[in-house]
Amino acid sequence: MTIHFPGYETVINNVYDSGNEHVFSYWDTLNPDQKKHLLEELSTIHFETLQQLYELAKRNLPSLDFKPAPYTPVPKTDEEKKEFEKAKQIGIETIKKGKVAAFVVAGGQGSRLGFDGPKGMFPVGAVSKKSLFQIHAEKIRAYELKYDVAIPWCIMTSEANHDATLAYFEQNNFFNLNKEKVFLFKQNMIPSLDENGKLILESPCSIFRNPDGHGGSLTALYQSGTLDTLQALNIAILSYFQVDNPLVRIIDPVFIGFHRMHDAEVSSKALVKAYPEEKIGVFVQFSNNRIGVVEYSDLPLEKQYEKDEQGQLRYAAGSIAIHLFNTRFIASVTGSNVTLPFHVAKKSIPEYTDKGIHYITGYKFEKFVFDALPLTQHNFILETKREEEFAPVKNKTGVDSVESAQELMINLHKRWLTQKGIAISPKLKKIELSPLFAIEKDDIPQSLIILDKEEVYIE
Ligand code: UD1
Repeated sequence: MTIHFPGYETVINNVYDSGNEHVFSYWDTLNPDQKKHLLEELSTIHFETLQQLYELAKRNLPSLDFKPAPYTPVPKTDEEKKEFEKAKQIGIETIKKGKVAAFVVAGGQGSRLGFDGPKGMFPVGAVSKKSLFQIHAEKIRAYELKYDVAIPWCIMTSEANHDATLAYFEQNNFFNLNKEKVFLFKQNMIPSLDENGKLILESPCSIFRNPDGHGGSLTALYQSGTLDTLQALNIAILSYFQVDNPLVRIIDPVFIGFHRMHDAEVSSKALVKAYPEEKIGVFVQFSNNRIGVVEYSDLPLEKQYEKDEQGQLRYAAGSIAIHLFNTRFIASVTGSNVTLPFHVAKKSIPEYTDKGIHYITGYKFEKFVFDALPLTQHNFILETKREEEFAPVKNKTGVDSVESAQELMINLHKRWLTQKGIAISPKLKKIELSPLFAIEKDDIPQSLIILDKEEVYIE
């Protein structure tokens, strides 16, 4: 069968040359709009890159030549504490000068949580049931008030959730943030391939594609023009985090101060892994001395369990996906020929056939943002405390679930109150402090009285 459609001759040729003509199987059943839709989608595909990705999928050998990366631990000695205090002051100064913006990657859906919508809209507040987005937004507003400065917020969405995310922010009046300084932009999509390296139809007129991973965030920031806008606003540092961590300290003066003291292009937070199989990437130093992260699924079993001389896990420093990126560094990477590598995952993928949808095994490709680390000359890794900063909401129940995240948030707020010497009733089961009431322990007024109830929410 020969396909004709004026203006799309090159695209059609590319499809045939790459051996993907099966995507035209339903051509005769399509109306002109559907034909155009299919060709438009195909015109965005770079077939040579797909061929290279397929080769990669067949090899898929991550580098194993690495050792644990050095990091700065939680301070214990007076001297270390003094250094942290110095970093904090430098950080505060940087924030107050308006040099820092927040950056969340929120391209994911809440499917693992059984939630039909953008993951950021998932309700997590232990008492208030506020969504992840609302908690993040209120934290940013609280930092703005605390440091008397505007903090722009970049939100990376995906094709699947952009419209719903934007509508949610509009319905909620951007949670009282200045909407001119909230930048939503979409990440790119990349086709998945079947086991023979061919495109997969998800309907008679569209190709199955998936978001290109959070590593696509740097390119998306650049392509959307947001990076230029940020630089025009004099933003030097982006504080990057994942939408699924409600405990994240979005703007952390100590972290920002150290980042500057080390003249780092990228800095990252680490925590000591709770157990060898914990699903977090680990910080490593490759044989060329560059720092990077090896994803949990790529860490060989013997390295996962390897112990050091003290009997501790050798690869203990886990990445919790909290980083600082210099805008200048992002501009240099996105403006060059260097692109972050794709990682391959074998997944079950829905394919359209004339008998309906059936599932096949295929390859999905994603970029990981931590692959920017080996591109840096200077970087810095800071250990943080799990109970203060990491409550990932990944699953419906059990490990890394809504319940475990709520428990971590409740415990943190209880600890703040106890450390302040504020009495809490033994009856108290759930307590939630709004970020607008207290973003850290020191914001809590000594005069606070906690009601003798099981559930308390303080706004
Ligand atoms: C991720 C990290 C892991 C880290 C852990 C901490 C990867 C590959 N792994 O694991 O090293 O220790 O989080 O919680 O990242 N996202 C997008 N677009 C995409 C893909 C993801 O915006 O195309 C966003 C999601 O909305 C989410 C975050 O990235 O905010 C993490 O994605 P997820 O797939 O949940 O990563 P994990 O496998 O849990």
